[in-house]
Amino acid sequence: MSKSESFSVNLKENRLFPPSEAFVSTANLKRDEYEKQIEIGRKDPEGYWAAAARELKWIKPFSKVLEWNPPFAKWFSDGRLNASENCIDRHLEKNSQKTAILWEGEPENEIVRWTYSDLHDRVIRLTAGLRKLGLKKGDRVAIYLPLVPESVVAMLACARAGLTHTVVFGGFSADSLKDRMIDAEAKAVLTADFGYRKGAKIGLREQVEKAVEYAPTVKHVITLSRADVGTTKSGKSSAAIGKIEGAQEYDWYGLSSSFSKSEAENDGKAEAVEAEHPLFILYTSGTTGKPKGIVHSTAGYLTGAMRTTRDVFDLKPNDLYWCTADIGWITGHTYVTYGPLALGATVFLFEGAPTTPTPGRFWEMIERHKISILYTAPTAIRTFMKLGSEWPGKSDLSSLRLLGTVGEPINPEAWMWYRETVGGSRCPIVDTYWQTETGAIVISPVPGAVATKPGSATFAQPGFDVDVLDKQGKPVPLGEGGYLVIKKPWPSMARTIHGDPDRFKQAYFSEYSGGIYFTGDGGRRDEQGYLWCLGRVDDVLNVSGHRLGTMEIESALVSHPRVAEAAVVGRPDDLKGQAIVAFVSLKADSVKMLGTDEVKLKALKEELRSHVGKEIGALAKPDDIRFTDALPKTRSGKIMRRLLRELATNGVVKGDTTTLEDLGVIAALQAKDDD
Ligand code: WT7
Repeated sequence: MSKSESFSVNLKENRLFPPSEAFVSTANLKRDEYEKQIEIGRKDPEGYWAAAARELKWIKPFSKVLEWNPPFAKWFSDGRLNASENCIDRHLEKNSQKTAILWEGEPENEIVRWTYSDLHDRVIRLTAGLRKLGLKKGDRVAIYLPLVPESVVAMLACARAGLTHTVVFGGFSADSLKDRMIDAEAKAVLTADFGYRKGAKIGLREQVEKAVEYAPTVKHVITLSRADVGTTKSGKSSAAIGKIEGAQEYDWYGLSSSFSKSEAENDGKAEAVEAEHPLFILYTSGTTGKPKGIVHSTAGYLTGAMRTTRDVFDLKPNDLYWCTADIGWITGHTYVTYGPLALGATVFLFEGAPTTPTPGRFWEMIERHKISILYTAPTAIRTFMKLGSEWPGKSDLSSLRLLGTVGEPINPEAWMWYRETVGGSRCPIVDTYWQTETGAIVISPVPGAVATKPGSATFAQPGFDVDVLDKQGKPVPLGEGGYLVIKKPWPSMARTIHGDPDRFKQAYFSEYSGGIYFTGDGGRRDEQGYLWCLGRVDDVLNVSGHRLGTMEIESALVSHPRVAEAAVVGRPDDLKGQAIVAFVSLKADSVKMLGTDEVKLKALKEELRSHVGKEIGALAKPDDIRFTDALPKTRSGKIMRRLLRELATNGVVKGDTTTLEDLGVIAALQAKDDD
């Protein structure tokens, strides 16, 4: 990771929104208590986190708190516990009949409501099923599902058996799924025949079929029939229903309904795993190479998830909480599944697109179920804003009491719209900054205690030592831009990159010495000490809150037979945050063949877009492709990304974009500066 940008931030935002008295009066963490927690976290972070960890249910309590050999941390290492037991069993005594999951499918009449007892039943059955296939503690299992309630069951069943899950977002291609399963050496994959998206059926099993062919470690495919979502008994066989290239395929409910209640209870018992046992691997994009498998622990991760969910979302027993993320992302792991369920909350899930069948769908569901907490992404908010205030205006949103955002910086206009139009000017907004690697929220207001400011994530959570440093590692003065770092270890931090501890060190702990974690983001503290998270300063893009490496997209482009070289940069986009622009030079024979034939060049652009879609997934398709005879490079051969970003943003090269752009001249002009 390289710190390549300089900062020129000049945000002046002085509007402050303290929480209303009504909100404060019932808040879990009021100002005094919050300040106390901040103080404890500052003076004695290990003590702070040990107390948080003691709120988990331990099978064997821990005595050690932290072992820190930078960049490798162990937390609570001599304890044993099970994440699934923490998320389900411990609520059964008092809350077995409380709703754990309320789900709406994209087709509007599909609703599933599961109590904690129902969830327990589903999870122990699947756990027993996974064990029946011979899977055991430490094995890796891929999950490739639409956002159906069974996706949560899949995660919790893996956790219960001590299997390390790796969820792959259903929008990723067969190739991406294959790469991840190979890297994780997954022995099994849980999938579904299809899911719904914008009215269409998106086939998942067919992608699995293609991926498994090249992923030799995968021996079992467990397929959920979309028609069975929410059922108990399927009447289907528990035996293998077919073969997929080297693996046996089983029907999800056929397998999990093959046990009597007592068999399921017995074979579905929670494994007592070590605190540091890897709960999951989640792949995310970096600056170089293939996506990295971020490894998270069991106890430390769950401690961070539970504590931040409690503090940031002010969860109460009667809340209906909705985090709109897919389980394919870290937000879905921490704030759909592990955090809220560890607290015994009621979680709402929605399978589909926010605008299907109409742009009012989100708001209708909020009214229908009386959702009280909504946590979504700035890109969604900007899309709703564009669709018009009349859509949220049609529904009664008075059940909402708290709003959250995550994934990218939120512009003050979108923040104000969210506050006024969705939150009726009464709901606090928590702008939460964190990353796949941090496991849990790092910077966010605690809503009953902190006055918010549009666009600022405000302050670090208790127990986190966040700072803004310059290149040399010195804290920058208030008001100035620098690099966002975390100076002390925290329980939910990533433990390593699967199979590549050196890359872990290189990626996060090599910019600064002394065990300081570099986020890859720019930051700034304003005159009042409020933190502003300014987005990536490396070659990582943030497209609609999704993280993509420019290198990954470049490799996908270059793997096309007509492409010689490619450089990918981000350009600011009103809706998506960043749009993907690819500069592509073609191989000589292709240039000869295509010449300046606009129709053919246009067709090739489309072909390249679908090629990237096939290699990575639709979310990585470039918005613009520009053909160029050569990429502008410095004399030492480095692609001049700064120039390309400028070109992409300001469209310096105007005119017909289907013709070849001669960047050579501009490059020559710039070469002096960049050398
Ligand atoms: C990157 C992490 C973990 C949340 C989902 C994304 C950006 C995230 C904010 C925010 C400004 C933010 C950063 C970060 N980001 N939240 N509130 N304000 N930027 O997780 O895919 O690991 O991406 O998202 O650039 O590094 P991720």
